[in-house]
Amino acid sequence: MNACSTCVTRPEQFLAGWIHASGRSASILCTVTEIPEHLLKRSRERRDAIGQGGDTPSDAAPATAVEKSATATPAAAPPASTGPAPRTAAAEPAAPKPPKPDPHYVVAANQRRKVPFWAMATLSLMPVWGFMYVRAITDSGEVAAGPLAEGAEIYNNCASCHGAGGGGGTGYQFSEGEVLKSFPNIEDQIRYVYYGTEQYNLAGIEIYGNPERDGGPHITGAQGPMPAFGAQLTEYEIVEVICHERYTLGGADPTSDEYAAEFEAWCSADAPVFEAVEAGELSLVDLDEPEEFMVGDDEVVIVNPVGPEPISGTVKGG
Ligand code: HEC
Repeated sequence: MNACSTCVTRPEQFLAGWIHASGRSASILCTVTEIPEHLLKRSRERRDAIGQGGDTPSDAAPATAVEKSATATPAAAPPASTGPAPRTAAAEPAAPKPPKPDPHYVVAANQRRKVPFWAMATLSLMPVWGFMYVRAITDSGEVAAGPLAEGAEIYNNCASCHGAGGGGGTGYQFSEGEVLKSFPNIEDQIRYVYYGTEQYNLAGIEIYGNPERDGGPHITGAQGPMPAFGAQLTEYEIVEVICHERYTLGGADPTSDEYAAEFEAWCSADAPVFEAVEAGELSLVDLDEPEEFMVGDDEVVIVNPVGPEPISGTVKGG
């Protein structure tokens, strides 16, 4: 191979070929491209020295080098170009999203003081307390059974003049024993409510209650007109409301010596006199003379006639 063969790889290869073919002196035309032999030799030696060999071996060396890089490159490349790569690429956009700030009510809820454990324990006992409370109410309701329970309802007809608690108003006060002073005997009170002020005036009865009343007797009409309820309420309803006035408002003690017999006969849950009136077996207004009623096994209670018209009130036991 002569020196000019180097030119073949260059663009002017045609020219070089032409020079060769025409036999012209290459030393003239290829001056620029010609490489001195000693330089070529030195290059060859150098290449040999670094293991790239001469012309023939130099073809193989690059091949192995390429092979090496070819085997090396795929080994390094796959992790970047295959499978996992798209996945990391897809996950990336989600990661940088900044977290949304909590709404103000969530922040407030987090900052609020939590219910302490002891309070939770107390609150959990609320249903038990509610149960006990209802029991307590029910128990006291049993005491108010019978004429007293109904009497409290009927008293709505009287509260406007006598006060819801019997404290008085247009009409007299019942509470603090006041009504008991006027009517030591329950029949006198029944009569008065049945007939009212007007009938007492017509009958000429000046003192409608106890003539020896503590604090002075009550003179008919002195306080104003008390309506008659005989036409508006039944006899047993009048008994019921009077039981309410005497025992609930007036403060009579059902267990005291003074009132135990009356309470048992008239106002208790199974009062025989009340039951007889309620059943229509006994009319207090039509009764001609005193009648005895058995209370319990051995106690006798005398029921005095209310009468067909107003009569004077009586003293205790009269
Ligand atoms: C419109 C008002 C009014 C109403 C309603 C009324 N009263 Fe009277 N009551 C009076 C007045 C006024 C007197 C006093 C009468 C008198 O001075 O003669 C009186 C007196 C009484 C007395 C006598 C008290 C005492 O110590 O001398 C009794 C008992 C009584 N009322 C029961 C009742 C009952 C029971 C009811 C309901 C069913 C009732 N009253 C509704 C006005 C009222």
